[in-house]
Amino acid sequence: MQALESETTEALVAEIHALKQERGAAILAHNYQRPEIQDLADVVADSLQMARRATVLDAPVLVICGVHFMAESAAIANPDKQVLIPDLDAGCSLAATIQAKDVRAWRATHPGGVVVAYVNTAAQVKAESDYCCTSGNAVSVIRALPPGVPVLFLPDFFLGSYLKRVTGREMDIWMGECHVHAGMTHETLEERRNQYPDAEFLVHPECGCVTSAMYYAEAEGDVAAGRMQIVSTEQMMRRARSSRKRRFIVATETGVLHRLRRENPDKEFVAAAESAECRYMKLITLKKLRDSLLYLQHEVTVPPPIASRARRAIDRMLAIG
Ligand code: 13P
Ligand code: SF4
Repeated sequence: MQALESETTEALVAEIHALKQERGAAILAHNYQRPEIQDLADVVADSLQMARRATVLDAPVLVICGVHFMAESAAIANPDKQVLIPDLDAGCSLAATIQAKDVRAWRATHPGGVVVAYVNTAAQVKAESDYCCTSGNAVSVIRALPPGVPVLFLPDFFLGSYLKRVTGREMDIWMGECHVHAGMTHETLEERRNQYPDAEFLVHPECGCVTSAMYYAEAEGDVAAGRMQIVSTEQMMRRARSSRKRRFIVATETGVLHRLRRENPDKEFVAAAESAECRYMKLITLKKLRDSLLYLQHEVTVPPPIASRARRAIDRMLAIG
C-alpha cells in the first residue's frame, strides 16, 4: 500500500512536470500549501510576493496554488495570461466576511474617507477600495495615507488593531477574522512561552494573540531581547535565516513549517498550535494540480470594469512597498 501510494505520488509529480513544460505554465504556491505542492512550484511565497512574481513571470499560463482571492489578484495583474486554480472551492473565511455593498455603506456615511483592503478580499471589494495591503506591507501603507481623513481598514480585526497600535492612526476596523488565526489566543502564546522560555516567537498579525504578543514585545522587552516578531509569512522566512536563536515558535498556518525547516535545517521550528490548518489551502492536491494543467481548469477571470478599479488599489500598494 505504502509503495503504491509513493509510486502514485511520483507518477503525478512526473506528469505535472511534463504538462507544465507542454503548457508553458508557471506554478505559484502560497507558503501554506502542502509540502509536495511547495516542492514542485516555481514560486513559493506570501501573498505579496505571489502578486509581484505573477507580473514578471514569462509564462502564458499561471497556476495559483493558493486561495481564490490570490488567483483573482494574479488575473487582475495579468489580463493577457490564463490564470488557473486547481480547486474553485479554495476560498477564504476571512475574505468572506465582507462584501462590496458593506464598503459602499461605510463610504456613504464617511464622505472623503479612505478604504484600505487587506489582500484577503474578493476583487469586487478591492474595486471599492482605495488601497490594498498585505501583512508584509500593511504598516507602510497605513503610514502613507493622507492625514486627517476617516479610514476604514478591512476585513481583519486583529491585523487592524495591530496596525492602529503600531502607527497610531485612528481608523474604523471591520470585525472580520480568519478561523485559523483567531484560534491562536493569549493562552496559546502563554503556554508556549512557559514551555519554551528560550525560543523566539514568529507571530502572524492575523492571530488572536497579536495583542498579547505586542504586550510582551513592549512591556517585557521581548523585541529587544529578540523574542517576539510580528511578521508576515515571508518575513518569517527572512527572520528565521537572520536570527541567532536556534528554536522558534511559529504562530500561523502550519504549512509554513515545511519551508522554514527546509531552508534552516540546523534550527528547530515548533507550531504554536498544531491544529492551525487552513482547510481551503489544503484543498489543493497533486491530483487536482495535475488535472488543472491537463484540462486547463479552473480558469479565474475578473470582469474588466471590476479589474481596472481593483488594479488601482493593488498598484497603489505595490508602489508603496
Ligand atoms: P500572508 O500575507 O503572509 O501571505 O498571509 C496570507 C494569509 O492568508 C494569512 O492567512
Ligand atoms: Fe483565509 Fe485564514 Fe486560510 Fe489565510 S489561513 S487563506 S486568512 S482562511
